[in-house]
Amino acid sequence: MTAAPPSVAELAGLWEEIRDTLETDTGMNLHDERQERLAEAFRQFVHDNRLVSLTDIRERLTDPARRGAAIEEFVSHLTVGETFFFRNADHFRALRETVIPAIIGDRRRDRTLRVWSGGCATGEEPYSIAILIERDFPALAAWDVRILATDISKTFLEKGRAARYRAWSFRQTDIGNDPRYFKQEKDEFILNERIRDRVRFHHLNLVYDAYPSLLMQTVGLDIIFFRNVAIYLKEEVSQSIVRRFARCLRPGGWLLIGEVEISHRLFSEDDFEKIRDGETILLRRRDTEIPMTYAPAPIVPLWRVSHWTSSSPLEGEAGRGGRDAPAVTPHPASPSRGEEIQALQQARSFLADGQVQLAQQLIDRAASAEPLAIEAHLLSAALADEAGDLKSAAESLRRALYLDRDCLMAHLLLGMVLRGGGTPESARIFRNALAIARSMKPAELIPYSDGMCAGRFIQILEQMS
Ligand SMILES: C[S@@+](CC[C@H](N)C(=O)[O-])C[C@H]1O[C@@H](n2cnc3c(N)ncnc32)[C@H](O)[C@@H]1O
Repeated sequence: MTAAPPSVAELAGLWEEIRDTLETDTGMNLHDERQERLAEAFRQFVHDNRLVSLTDIRERLTDPARRGAAIEEFVSHLTVGETFFFRNADHFRALRETVIPAIIGDRRRDRTLRVWSGGCATGEEPYSIAILIERDFPALAAWDVRILATDISKTFLEKGRAARYRAWSFRQTDIGNDPRYFKQEKDEFILNERIRDRVRFHHLNLVYDAYPSLLMQTVGLDIIFFRNVAIYLKEEVSQSIVRRFARCLRPGGWLLIGEVEISHRLFSEDDFEKIRDGETILLRRRDTEIPMTYAPAPIVPLWRVSHWTSSSPLEGEAGRGGRDAPAVTPHPASPSRGEEIQALQQARSFLADGQVQLAQQLIDRAASAEPLAIEAHLLSAALADEAGDLKSAAESLRRALYLDRDCLMAHLLLGMVLRGGGTPESARIFRNALAIARSMKPAELIPYSDGMCAGRFIQILEQMS
C-alpha cells in the first residue's frame, strides 16, 4: 500500500519543526518575509524527490550521508540565478580603469592574474570579466590569467560550462552582437571557445566548504567578485565568508561586492581599505596579517582542523610570511633532505602572496629532494593543473598514489584532471575513491584536503561520478 503524500498542513508543521536546523546548515535567513517562497521551495523539494511521507523527508534531511546533498538541492530552490553580462557597469568600469591597471603594476614581474567569481550563477559574471580582459588589455595575452567560477548549484554550473545564452542575459549590454565573442544560432548566443576556456567552473558551497585552499586554488588571488549572494545569507555568515575571502586574496588584492553587501558592513576595516571609485566602492586587502579567527561554520568548521594548514605558516603567530615568519629568500635555495617540510611551508607562503613561480620552484625541488613526500606531489599537481599542464599534473598524482594508494585527494584530483582532458578513466577513479571514502566515518578528516571531512568528500564525488 502506498502512503498518502503529506498534506500541505503536515508539510507546514514539518517545516516549522526543521526550519531552525536548516537555517544553521544553509547559513540562510529562513525566518524572513520570504515565508511563502520558502514554503513553496520546500514543497518543490519534496515533490522532486518523490518523498512520500514525513518520515522520508525527515530522514533525507537528517541522514549524515545524504544530508549535505539534500540541503544543497533545497537551497537551489531558494536562490535565483538572476545575473547578466556586465551587470553593474560601474564595477566593470572600475575593473578597467582602476583594478586591473593596479594589478598590472603589482604583478609585472610574475605576470599572473587570478580572479574568483564566488556565486557565479550561470557564468555571465566570470565571462564578462574574461571578455573585458581580452578586449581592453591586449598586453595581458602574454600573461597567465585564470578565472575561477564557483556556485552551490550544479544546474547553474552546467549552464555556465555550456556557455549558451539567451537575449535576456544581455539586457544591459550589446556584447552578444559582437562576433568576436558570440555566434548566434536561432535564439541562442554561443560564446566562443577562447573565452570559454579562460574560465574554470567548480562546485563550492561558500557557507561550509574549505577555503582558502591550495588544492582548490583559492589562495594568492588578485580579485574576488562576491556580488548578490549575501542577500540570501545571514549577516554573520556573510561576514565570516568575507573574512575568509580576505585570506584568499594576496595583500593589495581586490574584493568587489554589491551595494547591499557594502551597506551591511560585511567587511572589517582591519582587513580591507574602502576605496571610493566614481560611483562605486572597492575593497582592497590591507597588507597586514589576517589571523585564523573565523566564526564557526554552520555545519563543520572544516578549515579550523585542516590537516594542511595546521602546520602552515599561514596560521597563527607566524602567519602569512609576517614578522615572525621564517626568513623567505627571494630566490629559493634547493632544500636538502629533511628541509622539505620547511620548503613546502615557504611555498604555501609564496602562494598566499600570489608568487606562483617561486612556490613552484620550491615545490618541485621538495618533490625531487624527498620523493616520499605525498604533499609535494599533490601541490605540484595542483600547480601543473592550474597551468593547464594536465600531463604533468596526472604524473604527480600517480606518484602520490604510488606512495599511498588510498590517498583520497590524489584520487579526486586525478579524476578531475583526467575528466578535464576528456579521459573516460576518470569515472573509474571517482568510483574507487567513493568506495574508500564510504568506508570512513562521515566526520573523519580527509588527509591533505585543507580540512574536508569524508561526508562532504562523498557528496563531491557523487556529483563527479
Ligand atoms: C543572484 S545570483 C548572483 C550571480 C552573480 N554573482 C551576479 O551578481 O550576477 C546568486 C548566486 O549565489 C549562489 N549561492 C547562494 N548560496 C550560495 C552558497 N552558499 N555557496 C555558493 N553559491 C551560493 C546561487 O546559487 C546563485 O547562483
